[in-house]
Amino acid sequence: MENLVPEETIEEIRQHFDLVEVISNYTVLKKSGRNYLGLCPFHSEKTPSFTVSAEKQLYHCFGCGAGGNLFTFIMASENLTFKEAITFLAGRAGVSLPERPLSSGEKKFKVLKEELLRINEVSMKFFSEALFSRKYGSEALNYLKRRGLKESTLKEFNIGYSLASGESLLLYLKKKRFAEENIEKAGLIIGRSRGSGYYDRFRNRIIFPIFNQQNQVVGFGGRIMDDSHPKYLNSPETPLYNKRRILYALNFSRYHIREKDEAVVFEGYMDVITAYQEGLKNCVASLGTSLTEEQAETLRRNTSGVVIAYDSDAAGEAAAWRGMDILAKAGCRVKVAQLPKGMDPDDFIKKKGKRAFEKEIIEKSLPLVDYKLEKIQQEIGVKAFKTPDEKLLYMKKIIPVLAELDNRVEMDVYLQKVSSQIEVQVDSLKLELKKFRNAQRRPKSFRKNEPEIEVNKENPPPAAEKEILAIILKHPQYISEVKKWLKKSDFCYAPFREIVDKLFEAGEKEKKFTEHTILSLFPGSEQQKNVATLILDVEKNPDCREKIIKDCIKKIKCSNLSLKRREIEKEISKLDKQQDGEKIKELLVEWTELKRLEKDY
Ligand code: UTP
Ligand code: MN
Repeated sequence: MENLVPEETIEEIRQHFDLVEVISNYTVLKKSGRNYLGLCPFHSEKTPSFTVSAEKQLYHCFGCGAGGNLFTFIMASENLTFKEAITFLAGRAGVSLPERPLSSGEKKFKVLKEELLRINEVSMKFFSEALFSRKYGSEALNYLKRRGLKESTLKEFNIGYSLASGESLLLYLKKKRFAEENIEKAGLIIGRSRGSGYYDRFRNRIIFPIFNQQNQVVGFGGRIMDDSHPKYLNSPETPLYNKRRILYALNFSRYHIREKDEAVVFEGYMDVITAYQEGLKNCVASLGTSLTEEQAETLRRNTSGVVIAYDSDAAGEAAAWRGMDILAKAGCRVKVAQLPKGMDPDDFIKKKGKRAFEKEIIEKSLPLVDYKLEKIQQEIGVKAFKTPDEKLLYMKKIIPVLAELDNRVEMDVYLQKVSSQIEVQVDSLKLELKKFRNAQRRPKSFRKNEPEIEVNKENPPPAAEKEILAIILKHPQYISEVKKWLKKSDFCYAPFREIVDKLFEAGEKEKKFTEHTILSLFPGSEQQKNVATLILDVEKNPDCREKIIKDCIKKIKCSNLSLKRREIEKEISKLDKQQDGEKIKELLVEWTELKRLEKDY
């Protein structure tokens, strides 16, 4: 994240607000000791675990791990980028943002994007007028009405129609003095392969404008009105339209999604529009089958629960499963709705109504893992597992699904479930799981220079790494000292390693840090969480900080040495005494040397 706004201005904005007051607009805070406590605005909970420190002007949720400062709070709760959050707050604080002179490249790109936005806006109006014109649009309008869309809905979603002639939009835009070159960049026209000139990309199609979250038109989707192919044509990637990021209709539904703390993800334009029209408004469409990380992250910022409601055939596809896993990894509670065969959500809602859709489909949607287990069972094609073959087959297929779980309680629940499904002891399942995980593990090259601890819930970060990091985050003046002794690779815990890397790098350039400038070094929400947690961690013995630093360095060094020794031991145990005598000798020498070093520390 590039800091385009000067540090002083950011500081001025920060000083203007009291975080407790700001957050009080989002959740009720009560004084509790030195801090304030309330229900977390980022996940649903019954007992308050959301803590705000008035003194430090930082927040942290002990439930979901959210944490940060004023800016991260506004970014997360208003779903803004850092830059947007600054602008948002500057406006309220009455601080004017100095216009940073843009480089000439940036200036050109900004001007281009503004031009493309104007082109899209004018085109959207052109399409919309065509749809409602007697002369051109009646077939399209009838088609949409036949599919159950009301005129008010068409207007709300700005649905339109592109004329059948090959260049009506092109001519219209040219008359409005837009350059062909830019119209092409907007993805609305295509260069002729033979001869010169262009023609309209969308011809004789229903047009669905695609908006970003600022309600700007960034692209279009166009549906053909009969059975010919392709059914949909979409805008290509343009400077405005990034397919990995966009969730269709989020600009309309964001408020409803937040209010319900649940988003329903459909596949297609028509599903969302019908659902929205019928009053199920907390929905978006992924416009394809597989959700991307960017889309998952956007959803996560708006809600903690997501229901995937894909067409009955599509939800089972590998790409769809990958998308669901991505969502779960992003921290969403994922449920999967199951639609009757051959029906998509649009059909269902039109046939049976919104209520029925909520009762029969949304409420009955299954948690991701249950859904997968059920699908696997369906694939095997039995109602209950009776023969050993069936049981083994089931187990083989579900082990990889279970292996994905990193929550113990969840793991226990599903182990129990599977154990009773196939009448096999939980312990045997655990054993299989372990075997699977071992086989999965990448073959580690011998003695990696950087021992690394896998990040999962069962591996807490090493205490010494945590402690020393918390100290240098709070007291950056020690960074250079620590750097003399430890390398980034001495930190085994990967998330910490990244933080250390940034700190060491920044420590070189900058001497003056505050907790807030430090926080702004970390653009990723995951890192920010970790950093905020570390900063808020109460220092136990501030008086002997230097001694603690020394101890931590020693502990980290020693534990790395002993990790390396253990790797050597493993290696030796794999070798054959007869054949590899020489190699073993070498390794033993190395082992002894490591042991000696360890003692010396
Ligand atoms: P669907 O085929 O389910 O379309 O594809 P739909 O939105 O339900 O439309 P109707 O009900 O048949 O009219 C789901 C989504 O996949 C993308 C579109 O974004 C569509 O909304 N898609 C589908 C394409 O991009 N191109 C295609 O040819 C088909
Ligand atoms: Mn459909």
